[in-house]
Amino acid sequence: MRKILVTSALPYANAPLHIGHIVEYTQTDIWARFQKMRGNECWYICADDAHGTPIMLHARQKGISPEELIRQMSEEHQADFRDFRIGFDNYHSTHSEENRELAELIYQRNLEGGHIVARTITQLYDPEEGIFLPDRFIKGQCPKCGAEDQYGDSCEACGATYDPTELKNPYSVVSGAQPVEKETEHLFFRLQDFETMLKEWTRGGHLQPEVANKLDEWFEAGLREWDISRDAPYFGFEIPGHPGKYFYVWLDAPIGYMASFKNFCAKQGLDFDAYWAEDSDAELYHFIGKDIIYFHALFWPAMLHGAGFRKPTTIHAHGFLTVNGQKMSKSRGSFIKARTYLEHLDPEYLRYYFAAKLGPGVEDIDLNLEDFVQRVNSDLVGKVVNIASRCAGFITKRFVGTLSDALAEPELFDEFVAAGEAIADHYEKREYGRAVREIMKLADRANQYIDEKQPWVVAKEEGRDAELQAICSMGLNLFKVLIGYLRPILPGTAEKAEAFLRIEPQQWSHIAQPLLGHQVAKFKPLMTRVDPKKVEAMVAASKEDMAAKPQKARKAESEAATPTISYDDFAKVDLRIARIEKAERVEGADKLLRLTLDLGREKRNVFAGIKAAYPEPEKLEGRLTVMVANLAPRKMKFGVSEGMVLAAGPGGREIFLLSPDEGAKPGMKVK
Ligand code: MSP
Ligand code: ZN
Repeated sequence: MRKILVTSALPYANAPLHIGHIVEYTQTDIWARFQKMRGNECWYICADDAHGTPIMLHARQKGISPEELIRQMSEEHQADFRDFRIGFDNYHSTHSEENRELAELIYQRNLEGGHIVARTITQLYDPEEGIFLPDRFIKGQCPKCGAEDQYGDSCEACGATYDPTELKNPYSVVSGAQPVEKETEHLFFRLQDFETMLKEWTRGGHLQPEVANKLDEWFEAGLREWDISRDAPYFGFEIPGHPGKYFYVWLDAPIGYMASFKNFCAKQGLDFDAYWAEDSDAELYHFIGKDIIYFHALFWPAMLHGAGFRKPTTIHAHGFLTVNGQKMSKSRGSFIKARTYLEHLDPEYLRYYFAAKLGPGVEDIDLNLEDFVQRVNSDLVGKVVNIASRCAGFITKRFVGTLSDALAEPELFDEFVAAGEAIADHYEKREYGRAVREIMKLADRANQYIDEKQPWVVAKEEGRDAELQAICSMGLNLFKVLIGYLRPILPGTAEKAEAFLRIEPQQWSHIAQPLLGHQVAKFKPLMTRVDPKKVEAMVAASKEDMAAKPQKARKAESEAATPTISYDDFAKVDLRIARIEKAERVEGADKLLRLTLDLGREKRNVFAGIKAAYPEPEKLEGRLTVMVANLAPRKMKFGVSEGMVLAAGPGGREIFLLSPDEGAKPGMKVK
């Protein structure tokens, strides 16, 4: 019996789960269920990843404590997992005593080993909020292309990456204040100390080949010290001996795997060290997405090594989910939350579809919604469940639910059993797509058997009762084998099928045992067809989610970015409807247009930086827009600007002038 510990990445306690997450948890769950069916001691462990600045700020924004936020999120996550039948043996939190102790221990041992050093660095600081800003909480103009509103680490317009201190006109996303550079002492983990060990480990069969290749690139670029501390205020664990300094969330996140297991050991009376000691003979597997390989394949083994713990047996990275060939998108309704899916569709459908598409590699996997409906209906409903429904009725009605004493075609049954080892091998290697194909071939074969034997014809003829019972019993025995093979993927359907067959939850070794002279229960449909209307409704609901969300997000963002003003402040702004009478290029100015605006009783000359968005300015002539009419005149290189037109958008070509509804007249006050 193997001793196996399996983990999935710990979801951030910051947001609800979406169907992209479900790819990973399904992939891991299938593997863990398979190992358990094989009779191995296998534990599937997870937790919420509860620390970090985003969680701290999110809680602040909601006006609750971070503890309360992570409690709510953990409940939501666990309900989603339960309903998708993700069978964790333990679900914990990185904000736990076990994790604090282990994080301190691992830190302490690495410190004693000389792998942790302190250095003073300069970071951007929000003077209004009194916090150091992570890259994603700073925005400004791209230093390369000048695009507005870009994050502190990279530009979405030109793809450049840079240091947040290089941004032009930077501002804090939290307060809107201009960040200042400030010195602070940080602690660094010397990853380079582990280079030899890591190079060897990387090529030691612990990673998928394509992941090992990726690591080679990182080795070539050179391993660098890793910043493992953050300044207060921070939601996390304070570093012993360094008041006001906290462990960076990614330091204690993977330690959360150990902490959750430790918590489980205490409840179950298991031996923690048997799994984590350096000389442990247990197997340890981490299932993760391709975006977090760096943390799991470099930092994590190095931290464990430095602290005298065992390293992972294998890290299994998977690709990202796309929907209908594209990145999940809120506007297309393909950013589907786990809960939204569950409100519309059976989780078994998605588990099956993902399994059918999953392989051992890191390629992205696509959920094509039409293909999803078609595939689930034809494979699961049309093939597998159909076998049972074609045979069960006769057995109940004509033979009080009793199966024959012998198999009608033992060779066929043996064929089904013989396929088991290849299928098991596919599961073991995470070749779920191949396992599914093998199983569906058998399902075709079972249906073919029933087609040939035509029980519905036999049923009408006198004196052929024994034959009818034998055919249907044979069909149900083949069904039992198939359901056994599908059990890791379809635990819910398997449970229903086992209730119908009146058998214990099948272990792999039970699959080969036929049911003879056995009584089954009354048959109830095991699964209904996927209704395409429900898929449509789910997509529509995901769009609705979105309609509600930006409003909230916008509110939060504007609350965060700009201070509230009183109504009186607002009333000071004189907004008016203006007709663009003339719109012309300005010689020597590459961004500006000169607008002549008709305000009814008077005309205004306004320079607006909207040329990139309106390359043919004449086309603006005649349209209505909104302007600030009482802005102090401003002298510019090309003349005096007497006001400002209102437009939305990030800038550049994406500027959208506002227009009033039909009926508005130049000069009307906007309020
Ligand atoms: N909290 C970190 C993991 C810490 S592990 C010590 C994290 N959380 S996450 O919530 O962003 O992601 C959890 C897992 O889901 C990651 O493995 C991530 O790769 C995976 N996925 C998130 N979005 C995904 C898709 N769209 N498709 C497939 N997997 C995705 O990262
Ligand atoms: Zn740029």
